[in-house]
This record gives sequence, C-alpha cells and structure tokens, in this order.
Amino acid sequence: MKTQVAIIGGGPSGLLLGQLLHKQGIDNIIVERVNGDYVLGRIRAGILEQGLVGLLHEAGVAERMMQEGHVHDGVELSINDERFRIDLKKYADGSSVMCYGQTEITRDLMAAREAAGLATLYEAENTELHDVKTDSPYVTFIKDGEPHRLECQFIAGCDGFHGVSRKTIPDDSRKEFERVYPFGWLGLLSDTPPCNEELIYAKTDRGFALASQRSSTRSRYYLQVPLTDKLEEWSDDAFWAELKKRLPADVAEGLVTGPSIEKSIAPLRSFVCEPMQYGNLFLVGDAAHIVPPTGAKGLNLAASDVATLYKVLTRVFKEGDRSAIAQYSPICLRRVWNGERFSWWMTNMMHNFDEGVAKDGTDRDTQQRFMDSELHYYLTSEAGQRVIAEQYVGLPYEELA
Ligand code: APR
Ligand code: PHB
Repeated sequence: MKTQVAIIGGGPSGLLLGQLLHKQGIDNIIVERVNGDYVLGRIRAGILEQGLVGLLHEAGVAERMMQEGHVHDGVELSINDERFRIDLKKYADGSSVMCYGQTEITRDLMAAREAAGLATLYEAENTELHDVKTDSPYVTFIKDGEPHRLECQFIAGCDGFHGVSRKTIPDDSRKEFERVYPFGWLGLLSDTPPCNEELIYAKTDRGFALASQRSSTRSRYYLQVPLTDKLEEWSDDAFWAELKKRLPADVAEGLVTGPSIEKSIAPLRSFVCEPMQYGNLFLVGDAAHIVPPTGAKGLNLAASDVATLYKVLTRVFKEGDRSAIAQYSPICLRRVWNGERFSWWMTNMMHNFDEGVAKDGTDRDTQQRFMDSELHYYLTSEAGQRVIAEQYVGLPYEELA
C-alpha cells in the first residue's frame, strides 16, 4: 500500500487532519488500533474554540454543529455559593465558544471520510513506524491476521497519549515535561436538562465540581475525587448528592437528576513532548501533549496542531517548500505551552489540594488561602476577567512564515 501521508490514529486529530488534507488533494490513509464504535464510545469534552469551529467549516463538516451546537457567550466560575460570570464576548473581543460534543465531531468526521471514500484501516495491531528520518518512511501493522506495509512520504502521529508514534522518536532526541495531579475527575453523563445555561466551574471547600452539557436535554457533570476512589463506590445517588453540595445553592436547588448513561474516573495530567517533529514524523494532539480538563483545552490544542500541520504539508506538496517542515514544532509548542499553563493555572485555582507542605515550606492551608485570594482577585477585576476570557476562548492560530 502507498499514500502521501500515513495517519496513525483515527481519533479527532487524525480524522480532522485527513479531511483537511483531502480537501487540498493530498492523499492519506488512517491506521487505527480499535474499531469505529470503540472510538465513538469515548466520552470527552465539548467546548470548541473559534479556531476549531473555523477548521470544521474548512473541512466541510460544520453543518450539524451549526444546527445542534450552542454558542456560549459566557462562562461561570463560583467559589462556594458566590457566582461570577465571565462575559466572554465582552472581554474577548466579541469571541465566544461553541458547545458541541467531541463524540459528535468524531461522528461527523467519520461520515465525511466515508462519503469521500477515504481509507481508514480499523483494528490494526502491532503498528510500527520505520525510517522516519528518511524520505521513504513506512508503517507496518497486522490486520485480519495478515502483515501489511504502508509506504508514504510523511507520517502524522495522531495516536494519543498511549500511542506508538511518540516512542518512535529516540529517547535522546526528545524531552518530556510532566505534572501529575493528586486527584481525578469523576464524570457522569445523563439525559437530564442542564442546571444552567452556561458552564459552571465550581470551587468549594469540599472540592471542585463542573456543570457542563451536551444539549438542552443532556448534561455532563464532574466531581473532583481522590485518586484512590473506585467507580463502584459512586452510585448515581451518591454522585448527585455530592454534586448538590458543591454547586452554588441556587443552582443546586434546580438540579434535575436522573440515571447515568456513562460514568468514569479520569486522572489529571499536564504533559508535553518536545520537539513535535522528527524527520518526516509529526506528533499531533494527545500524542504530543495532555492537559488537565479544567479549561477545556485538550481537543482545541489538537485542532491547532492539525491547522498548522495541514498548512505545512500543503506547502510541501503544492509548492515543494520543505523549509515549512521545521516550522511545525515551534509554532505548535508556543500555543501548546500557553494552553498548558492556562489549564494548570485553572486546575490550581479551582481544586482542593491535599499535599501537606509545599516544596517551599508553605503549609497547605496557607497555600490554599493564597490561591483563594488570587482567584477572587481575577474574578472581581476587569483585567483578571479579560485574562481568563481571552484564554478560555483561545489564542489565535499562528500562521506559517
Ligand atoms: N496504532 C493505531 N492507532 C492507535 C494506536 C496505535 N498503536 N494507539 C492509539 N491509537 C488510536 C486510539 O485508538 C485513538 O482512537 O489513536 C487514537 C487517538 O485518539 P485520541 O486519544 O482521542 O487523541 P486525539 O485524536 O489527539 O484527540 C485529541 O485531545 O484532550 C483530548 O479530549 C481530547 O481526545 C481529545 C484529544
Ligand atoms: C465537558 O463538557 O465534558 C467539559 C467541559 C469543559 C471542561 C471539561 C469538560 O473544561
């Protein structure tokens, strides 16, 4: 088999990249470890920056999002029962965010790929990347018990945090940065109307909670939980009872509860791999970086990588300008680090940390007071709200030189 760009991983990064390359007449094949239903079964966030909304339009897959998605002009943060609304539109120069589930984007991209007749090779096992430093890299894998070889000019590693692409870069050619947080998020999805029109990020003495949504009839809620908690220990009733205690009282009063349709615990991590390009291999999305979900930046950072890579590859294939390749990693990393810093800051501000004494000797309670005061300052000053709004809606994409 032969193609111009081999894409490893058929999650949102791989699918969006494939569609945008196809629109530019660049041939690509996706190699995916699991099947399509499994990919769609992963429940992830659903707040899209305008850059991603624009990319979905460019890829020709925005129709359903425009019909079913909801534009949010603001976002709420609360401290115990005190609510603060950040007017995104006002403080981020008229920008807002789109509320539309990642699962739905994935579904739309899969349908577009199928309609365009583009190949996705599902259930590929033992994927390996070869000769990525040469002009003729190739990918090998086993499918239906048979070995396969896919020859290409470039490989896009869109295979998530646990994929093989990043590990293909030799240890002495990459540096990894990581912060693992001492708690997780317990998420619950239910067919109940959202408790508020906009999202509420709630900081409380009992820990963090998030009230999010997928539509006017489907809600998504999260609770900060110790990493030692087991899913079986959290009945739906226990979840709703704890959520009520963490949401501002007036919101909790109107909370509609119901049976969960999905419930899971996810750890929180900040992670970056540098560089994001090695020879003719590019790392994209979760394969190169992970953010804690506070701030909703995961999918949006993946999208800005895709935006940059498809422009780089378009330049290479259409203009024969290989110098664009070296621009990929520095352009992506500037934006990635901003998203990492913002997500880390939001996580620090909104959660309860129970780590005893900090490295500099500050005890936990004092540390917590510093953070409470910082958050309160940001939420009550115009400058602070602008800082949060600008980053929540997302920084502009950087163009190639
Ligand atoms: N070979 C082929 N495919 C693989 C391999 C492999 N060895 N390992 C993993 N994959 C596939 C996974 O099965 C998955 O479908 O790669 C895909 C990676 O998808 P995601 O993990 O969703 O990552 P990405 O596409 O970068 O999505 C961006 O950012 O923070 C998140 O929530 C956000 O999931 C979103 C992500
Ligand atoms: C979600 O809807 O799942 C969601 C929204 C915002 C976040 C994280 C998750 O910051």
